[in-house]
Amino acid sequence: MTCARANFRAAGWKDDDFRKPLITIAAPYSNSMPCNNQFRDLADILAEEVEKLGGKAHFCFTPVISDGESQGCKAMRYSLVSREVITDCIEVMHEGYHADAIITLGGCDKSVPAAVMPLARKAGSCCAVLRGARGRAFIPDAGNVERMVMEAIGAYGQGLIDLEELHRAECHGLPGSGSCSAMFTACTMPEALGMALPGTASKPAATRDDPRSVTERKRQDCAAVVAALFSLAEKGLSARKIITKKALENAVAVVYALGGSTNAVLHTLAIAHEAGIPESEFNIENFHRVGQRVPLIGNVSPHGRYHMSDLDKIGGVPVVMRELLDAGLVHGDCMTVTGRTVAENLAGTPSVAALGLQDVLYPVTKPLAPAGNHILVLKGNLAPESAVCKLSGKTDIELTGAFADSWNMLDPKPVLFPA
Ligand code: FES
Repeated sequence: MTCARANFRAAGWKDDDFRKPLITIAAPYSNSMPCNNQFRDLADILAEEVEKLGGKAHFCFTPVISDGESQGCKAMRYSLVSREVITDCIEVMHEGYHADAIITLGGCDKSVPAAVMPLARKAGSCCAVLRGARGRAFIPDAGNVERMVMEAIGAYGQGLIDLEELHRAECHGLPGSGSCSAMFTACTMPEALGMALPGTASKPAATRDDPRSVTERKRQDCAAVVAALFSLAEKGLSARKIITKKALENAVAVVYALGGSTNAVLHTLAIAHEAGIPESEFNIENFHRVGQRVPLIGNVSPHGRYHMSDLDKIGGVPVVMRELLDAGLVHGDCMTVTGRTVAENLAGTPSVAALGLQDVLYPVTKPLAPAGNHILVLKGNLAPESAVCKLSGKTDIELTGAFADSWNMLDPKPVLFPA
């Protein structure tokens, strides 16, 4: 051990540091992407909080790929595989330094599941933290009208806007740091799974006035996450006690309730695998079963009017989970990183009806679209094992062309898993 300690001392460690719990702070970081570009700052804030509570912080910065910056070109080939690379990097840096507990940061489609997967892989105490969503877009001279860049690209392709307006959307469509503010995977999964603190998913990462600095609310999240980690360590509560089949079903229910991404299917299955849950217990059919019961209640982008910052204003993901819990659509007895169950966490959270007048969330009893109209799980001669199709509440979609031929060969209805 003398040689190891000599090396640690050369890196600045003092006598006391060898007696402290070593906490890995894992951050997929790049200064080139808005989803993760605050992670050096967030890691520093987390380290300060760790030191305040008597721990020693140990940084792990990993590669990270932005879907938003790589899609449509060769770089996209590195996107999905980066999820596994990040997971492996975090494991290597945590295990290779005999660290005691771990906090991970995730902010984009692949770095969010990659923030959970190494925790599921290992039995140590742990806690995941999410980065917040971006605020609403603002286009100068167009009023406070939101127009996402993707919509502007489509509008330009249709000849509805000119090049100048497209350029304005490019310059102002994404107002600053944070995950995509629509209901893509980054926004909700770890919180619904019980691996991130309630309410942290929807908090804006930055403000319009200061688009890249960490917000005070995110600083508070960092302190709360570190406190939760130390409490989890005391209780000996590890990710594997939190990521159970029921917790995965909760995450799936929230995906369906809010109209989340089809990527959630890929990532939830990967997390289940890392958590050692047998495929016979949790597989793609669980999505179909949950999806047949959970209606679409979120009026949020990309299918709806509002964004994560609007959801945040009415209480965030906890309100969604409370609505689902009251309707018997999520499991209340799942443990979470607060050290309490889902039902205990939601005890003081209002239902949708109690919120009064708003149209960001609809009640389960009067949803935006009934159950069975979001992500469909399909099987057919084009995809003998399975495929997914996202309707986001569009009940009038007709399958055409090769799709229709393929599915109709087996059954006139595209959904083939029996309820
Ligand atoms: Fe990173 Fe959407 S591109 S969260």
